[in-house]
Amino acid sequence: MKIGIIGLGFVGLSYAVVFASKGYNVVGVDIDVKKVSMISNRVSPFYEDGMKELLETTIGKTFTATTNYDSLRDADLVFVTVNAPTREDGSQDLLQLESAIRELAWVFCNAAHRPIIVIKTTVLPGTTRRMAKLFSELSGKKVPEEMGFAFSPEFLREGCAIRDVLNPSRVIIGALDEDTAESLTKFFREFYIKVGSNPPILVMSPEEAELVKYASNAFLAMRISFANSIADVCEEIPGCDVGRVLEAVGLDPRIGKEYLKPGLGYGGSCLPKDLKALIRFTEDLRLSPILFKAVQRINEDRIEKVIKILERELGDLRGKKVAVLGLAFKPGTDDIRDSQALKLVLKLLNKGARVYVHDPMALTNAKRILGNRVEYLKSLDKVLEYADIAIIATGWDHYKQIPLLVERKDIRTKLIIDSRRILCLDELSRMQNKGLKVIVLGTNLGK
Ligand code: UDX
Repeated sequence: MKIGIIGLGFVGLSYAVVFASKGYNVVGVDIDVKKVSMISNRVSPFYEDGMKELLETTIGKTFTATTNYDSLRDADLVFVTVNAPTREDGSQDLLQLESAIRELAWVFCNAAHRPIIVIKTTVLPGTTRRMAKLFSELSGKKVPEEMGFAFSPEFLREGCAIRDVLNPSRVIIGALDEDTAESLTKFFREFYIKVGSNPPILVMSPEEAELVKYASNAFLAMRISFANSIADVCEEIPGCDVGRVLEAVGLDPRIGKEYLKPGLGYGGSCLPKDLKALIRFTEDLRLSPILFKAVQRINEDRIEKVIKILERELGDLRGKKVAVLGLAFKPGTDDIRDSQALKLVLKLLNKGARVYVHDPMALTNAKRILGNRVEYLKSLDKVLEYADIAIIATGWDHYKQIPLLVERKDIRTKLIIDSRRILCLDELSRMQNKGLKVIVLGTNLGK
């Protein structure tokens, strides 16, 4: 079987190397010449756990990367994983997806076989059906008789994308017709037998499948905003720590413990953009997205909250030396897209603060946005030497060594705000004995 993957971002490339490592013949197509050349030279264009090893064992063997759509002519199955960004007004920019469909129409217009196109790009309900129509008009092929079309969402988390491909919580197939649904079910069953996992496979309409993705991401965002709201309440009650409260809440099997970690809020390439698109989509349906809007608002307010704490502690921030620890949208990645930490940096700069930044992985990406407006620090020692205040903005394990550094050295920093709650509460009093004030979001212990 020959599989095509269009769009070699973290989703497309993760599927490509995993399929290729299981013996499928995979062709990855991307319009970015530089990216294709890096991949062909066994270099991943981004950091993803396990990617390097899989790329090295598959490229040039079962996996080829190219800019040429023509290589897909004899493909049986094509996954489309290009980007569909959400515009400022919440509408979806489908230019890349439409362009991929146009190319595929040209590639398959004379096909003697019946290939299947599976859209994996997160798109709003109704889009897959519209893309199938566009394909049919351009290629002259009848859908579904001569060409299969389906939507199958991905639920990959950056940092564990390969593991998520191998072991998904569920596989959703939203096919336009029964034959396509059956072929895809068979394909995924066989693939997961090879892999040794056994995820539930659910077949539904394309519109339902499209909505599953938005509903899932909105629900995850809602849990995080819920946790952050409870964190705010805890801060007002002496003797209260949100960690203990939510741990107990999460033990209820009806609730569960995942995505209840309070902090600076959610970021990344999916949750914020999908919620924004869902809000607009709901409004377009003449419904009122009050719940989704509240989730979004709570998330935005997390940054304002930290700024308020700083102003309460320091007054005017102009000229104050503030270090932001962590810029990636979450630990384990160099991705800074829609990162709350980065938004915090920009806010601090607006307020006239002198900002130092540190991140174990994301400094190169951050430089592209922040340029020379901030100072980049490579070690934690330097952070504590230069900055009056340090804010832990991404929960890297690396920052757990702060208490040790504080014990060993004389430092300049007088205040640490742990917005990601990674410092051990037991260590706070020891740091405070050294004259360092530590504020942990969601905690009112020892105030
Ligand atoms: C997410 C979804 O999990 C995935 O299914 C979808 O396909 C793409 O979007 P990802 O963007 O990689 O994946 O990030 P995720 O690990 O879900 O975290 C999202 C954000 O929420 C991060 O900024 C993270 O720090 C934050 N988060 C997560 C919390 O603040 N608290 C939590 O309890 C969990």
